[in-house]
Amino acid sequence: MPQTVLMGPRKTLLAGLARQLGHPRGLPGHAVGRLLNRANRGRVTAAVEALAVRRGETALDIGFGGGLGLDLLLRATNGGTVHGVELSATMLDRARRAFPANVAAGRLVLHEGTMTALPLPDASVTAAITVNTVYFVPDVAAAFTEIARVLAPGGRFVLGIGDPAAMAKAPFTEHGFRLRPVEELEHALATAGLEVRRHDRVGEGLAAFHLLVTEAA
Ligand SMILES: C[S@@+](CC[C@H](N)C(=O)[O-])C[C@H]1O[C@@H](n2cnc3c(N)ncnc32)[C@H](O)[C@@H]1O
Repeated sequence: MPQTVLMGPRKTLLAGLARQLGHPRGLPGHAVGRLLNRANRGRVTAAVEALAVRRGETALDIGFGGGLGLDLLLRATNGGTVHGVELSATMLDRARRAFPANVAAGRLVLHEGTMTALPLPDASVTAAITVNTVYFVPDVAAAFTEIARVLAPGGRFVLGIGDPAAMAKAPFTEHGFRLRPVEELEHALATAGLEVRRHDRVGEGLAAFHLLVTEAA
C-alpha cells in the first residue's frame, strides 16, 4: 500500500506541500511560486540588502523559487548580470515569462541546475544569495564549496534560513526538511572558505530569520 494512503488526508496534504516547497512542479508549482514571493518578501528583500550589491556587478540567486530575488538583484545590479540557478523546470519557466526583456538582453541568465554542481565557471560571480533552500540539500558542505568556487575573491554570499527551532514547529517540516543548527551551517561555511562576517536577524524574538553574511577568501 502506498505510504500516502497510510498517512491520512492532513499528513498527505502537508507532505505534498513540503515536496512542492522543495521542488515546485506543474500548476500547483506555479501557485507555490506566487505564495513564496508573497510569504518571503521581507526575508528575500533583507537578504538582497545584506548583500550590498553594487551597480554593474554579476550576481547569483540559487533556488530563486517565485523569482522575487531575481527581480531585486536585477534592480540592484542595474546594468550588471544576474544568474538564476534552479532545480525546478516550473520555476525556470515562470522566471522566463516574468522577465522576458532581461532574458533577451542577456541581463538575466537562467540555468537548470543544482547548488552542488553550479553550471557556472570559477570566480565568475561577485555576489550571491540563497534563501530558504538548504533545508532541501543533503550535502551542504558540497554546496558551500561549490558556491565558494564560483565566487570571485572578496565576493559576498548571503545564506538565508528560518530559525531551526521555530521551523520545527511548522507542521510540514517533518516531511523531509533538514533543519540544521545555525552553528553547524556557520562552521560548514567557514570550512568551505566563506568567512561569516555578520549574522543578522530578520523579525522579532526567537523565531527571527537568520542571514549569514559571508565573504570569499
Ligand atoms: C522554499 S523555495 C525558496 C524560494 C526562494 N528562494 C524564496 O525564499 O522565496 C526553495 C527553492 O529552492 C529550489 N531548490 C531546492 N533544492 C535546490 C538545489 N539543490 N539547487 C537549486 N535549487 C534548489 C526549489 O526548486 C525551490 O524553488
